[in-house]
Amino acid sequence: MKKIQVLKPHYRINECLEQMKECLDIGWTGMGFKTVEFEDAWKEYTGLSNAHFINSATSGLHMAVKLLKEEYKWQDGDEIISTSFTFVSTNHAIKYENLTPVFADIDESLCLNPQEVKSKITNKTKAIMFVGLGGNSANLLEIIKIARDNNLKIILDAAHMAGSKIDSRHVGFDVDVTVFSFQAVKNLPTADGGMICFNDDTLDKKARQLSWLGINKDTFQRSNQGSYKWDYNVAEVGYKYHGNSIMASLGLVALKYLDEDNNYRKKIADEYIKNLDGKIQYIKHNDGTSRHVFQVLVENREEVIEFLTQNGIFPGVHYRDNMEYPPYKGELLKNVQYYSNRILSLPLHLEMNMDDVKFISEKLIEVSR
Ligand SMILES: Cc1ncc(COP(=O)(O)O)c(C=O)c1O
Repeated sequence: MKKIQVLKPHYRINECLEQMKECLDIGWTGMGFKTVEFEDAWKEYTGLSNAHFINSATSGLHMAVKLLKEEYKWQDGDEIISTSFTFVSTNHAIKYENLTPVFADIDESLCLNPQEVKSKITNKTKAIMFVGLGGNSANLLEIIKIARDNNLKIILDAAHMAGSKIDSRHVGFDVDVTVFSFQAVKNLPTADGGMICFNDDTLDKKARQLSWLGINKDTFQRSNQGSYKWDYNVAEVGYKYHGNSIMASLGLVALKYLDEDNNYRKKIADEYIKNLDGKIQYIKHNDGTSRHVFQVLVENREEVIEFLTQNGIFPGVHYRDNMEYPPYKGELLKNVQYYSNRILSLPLHLEMNMDDVKFISEKLIEVSR
């Protein structure tokens, strides 16, 4: 029986090997060389003014919160309005810095509901964390306006949003910092990895130092000055959060095909919609979405998962309400609870064809109620 996974990366293996070979030939696999090329290519593609390649979005979200906290002198216990309908990295980043995530409810997009966000603003609120779930920009523009009107910073968790656009503009504009994930099953997979894009050049510089243990000059810069310069200063106790040239090699190839791949994802999503419309409830996305996932709502989720699995189809759940986990226990939110108990991600990846979509749709209709 054919097995269809929920998410699966597709690599252009020969092109990836060619890129990696360049690193191996010159003996440079660390930060610098390909990471610089990848950062430049990402800036060119997104139109964002800064981009620093890092080892994960989790690291990036941590640095985003930490650097904003330092820059704007937030105190321990200050609040960031966030969503509990996300992967836990989003909210761990807030907790790492002794800040408090205050959860606002979501709407039918599975992203933050602007009215709910407004109702959570207090005199301790410093920022809003917006997650573009599945690549959907949802009400991001309205949330940005709320942030600006209330003098709050805005952090965009764009883990699912490589290639997501609003009116042809890549997401990340008009926010303080955007963090992308290039983890193994994301739209632009580099095994692990991410990009942190600060609007402010000074914060970009600080992120580079922080991601390299607080060292003020990276080894690539030092070895690029004619002869190797051993000397450097350690300005602070930083982290080892930067990306490397092998990961960047994979990223450069994937970036070349990102729009083409996202168009294929859209084709799969449109086919699901054609098959399921009027029969199964599904989550709608704004135009320009990267379509990281295709999500439906089912009442009998356990039964559906069991039946699909028996037929070689392996769906996923994105996500369980974070408030069900001990670090985030709190008063449950109505919509988060509702969606968290019903949501199901159907397989969506580049190695599927339209017959797979038809087969999955038929099986889903057969078992749903
Ligand atoms: C919404 C969201 N934020 C953050 C992350 C963390 O990404 P990474 O695995 O690159 O650390 C993920 C990963 O799945 C995610 O889905």
